[in-house]
Amino acid sequence: MTGAALSAEAIGRGLRTAVIGRPLRVEGEVDSTNARLRALARDGAAEGTVVIAEGQTAGHGRRGQAWFSPPGVNLYASVLLRPRLAARELGVFSFMASLALTDAIAALGLPASIKWPNDVLVDGKKVAGTLVESGVRGETVDYVILGVGVNINVDLPALHEALGPAGAFATSLAAALGRPVDRNAFAASYLNRLEHWLQVWRKEGPAALRRAWADRDILTGRRVEVRRDGAGFEGRVAGVDEQGSLVVDDTLGRRHTLASAEIRLQD
Ligand code: BTN
Repeated sequence: MTGAALSAEAIGRGLRTAVIGRPLRVEGEVDSTNARLRALARDGAAEGTVVIAEGQTAGHGRRGQAWFSPPGVNLYASVLLRPRLAARELGVFSFMASLALTDAIAALGLPASIKWPNDVLVDGKKVAGTLVESGVRGETVDYVILGVGVNINVDLPALHEALGPAGAFATSLAAALGRPVDRNAFAASYLNRLEHWLQVWRKEGPAALRRAWADRDILTGRRVEVRRDGAGFEGRVAGVDEQGSLVVDDTLGRRHTLASAEIRLQD
C-alpha cells in the first residue's frame, strides 16, 4: 500500500456533495465495483450511492477487457445515478465522469485531456478510464453506473508488465507528478466534481456537457486509424454526435458514425 488506506470517513471529510456519496461504501477487495453497485441498484439503492474498493479481482473495462486492479494503490469507484431519460440519451453520461476526472487531475497541477470514448490522458498517456453501465426498463433508464478506474500510485513497472504492449501508453498520477497522491483526497475531489457536472447536466442539458467535453478532447480534427470488428480504415475525426458516437470521415470522403471502436492517432 502507498499512503493511507481508503476509508469512508477520510473521503467523507472532503465531500461537499448533497447527492453523490450519500451513502458511500468503501470495501476491501471485490470482484468489480460496477458489479457490486449493480446488485445494490437492483435492490433499490438510492441515486448517489457510491462503491469504492481497495482492489478488484474482476475489474473490467470497455469491450470486456480486464482492468488492472491491484490492491492498495489506485482508485476503483462506481457511482449510481437514476436520471429520468430515454435509453438513447445515455451516451453523454460517460462525458460526465471524464469531465470530473480531468478536473480532479487538473487540481493536482496536471493538465489532463480526454480521448474518445472515455480515456483520460496525462502527458498523452492513459491514467484513467470510465465504464458506463445501465439498466433499462422498456425505453427508459432505470439506473446508470459510472465506474472509473484511476492509476494513482501503482508501481509503473508492474502496470507496464500487466498491460503488455499497451503499457507503453499508460501512466499513473504519481509518476506524472513525481510524488505519491492521497487517494482519499482524490476520491473526494472526483466525487465533488462529478456532482458539479451532474448539476450542469440537470440545469443546462446535455449540450453543455458535450461542449465542455469537446474542449478537452484530443481527437477532433486529427488523422486516425479506426479498428473495429477486425477491419480498419483511416480518416479524420469530425467530432462527436449527440449520442456520444465518434464521427470520422474516411479517406474516400465517406462518413462513419461509431458507437465503439479502437482509435489510433496518426499525426
Ligand atoms: C476502460 O476500459 O478504459 C474503462 C475502465 C473502467 C474500470 C473501472 S474500475 C471501477 C469500475 N469497476 C469495473 O469493473 N470497471 C470500472
